[in-house]
Amino acid sequence: MYPDPPFEPIMTELLRPMARRFPGIETLEGAGVRLRRAFGQREVPLLDPFLLLDHFGSDDPADYMAGFPWHPHRGIETVTYMLEGRVAHGDTLGHEGVIDPGALQWMRAGSGIIHQEMPERSEGRLDGFQLWVNLPAREKMSTPRYQGITPREIPEIELPSGARARVVAGRFAGVEGPVRGIAVDPTYVDLELPPGSTLRIPTVPGYTVVAHVIAGDGRFAPEPAPVSPQGETIHFGPGDAVEVRAGPSGVRFLLAEGRPIGEPVAWHGPIVMNTPAELQEAVRDLRQGGFLRHRQPIYEE
Ligand code: CO
Repeated sequence: MYPDPPFEPIMTELLRPMARRFPGIETLEGAGVRLRRAFGQREVPLLDPFLLLDHFGSDDPADYMAGFPWHPHRGIETVTYMLEGRVAHGDTLGHEGVIDPGALQWMRAGSGIIHQEMPERSEGRLDGFQLWVNLPAREKMSTPRYQGITPREIPEIELPSGARARVVAGRFAGVEGPVRGIAVDPTYVDLELPPGSTLRIPTVPGYTVVAHVIAGDGRFAPEPAPVSPQGETIHFGPGDAVEVRAGPSGVRFLLAEGRPIGEPVAWHGPIVMNTPAELQEAVRDLRQGGFLRHRQPIYEE
């Protein structure tokens, strides 16, 4: 043990530059859901530990009612965050629930689950996000776990600048989000800045940081960074803080931060492992039975 240093070293904050911008790609997923893939397989391993971000947002039920019928996952975590509308989920062990507007489901597929995610019939808008977070090798075959978080369990704070934050996971402005025990130490925050305001967000050096613009636009780095409009994803370069300046109509965005895993990625559809042999094993398990290694997932709702 070393004693604490007698004084805090004086440090200058290094603002993270905007390293890359992703406009997103229209994608058909599930049984024919029209969605926008903010980033995905072709970005691997740039955004490690994040694998994919899908935004399903439409006023037209024809775009989303097909839903995501029974499908497997192994080796990853899927994080569903709803803004509007409801998604019902069920799994092969008979568990059923509904993800309400403002609610979150953080699911560790681990060794394997088979589930479905179906929009509830509605005339109105369905709007939400699914983020895929990778698992380190030591947790890829772990017991599946669902953490169901209700809207009220997500702390909502207002910062001095007028910014509003919903802290889904991790710690933000001294407030701890409700999601616990995630391998890559993630922070996941839904942030809204009033028009023209500026917010500086400390981030962990060495962690991956991305922002996805939900509404409005803003500058996501020091000047003279270009403006990022709604639907764009920003990947930040190295540094220890992010600076965001809201445009004239304000900006709302998701901020995700996590510790890179740094392991090989072998990806086949909804299964993400470390090696091709592990993918083959998963496909064989699906064909011959034995995909569900743990019969009793952990539900925390
Ligand atoms: Co799924």
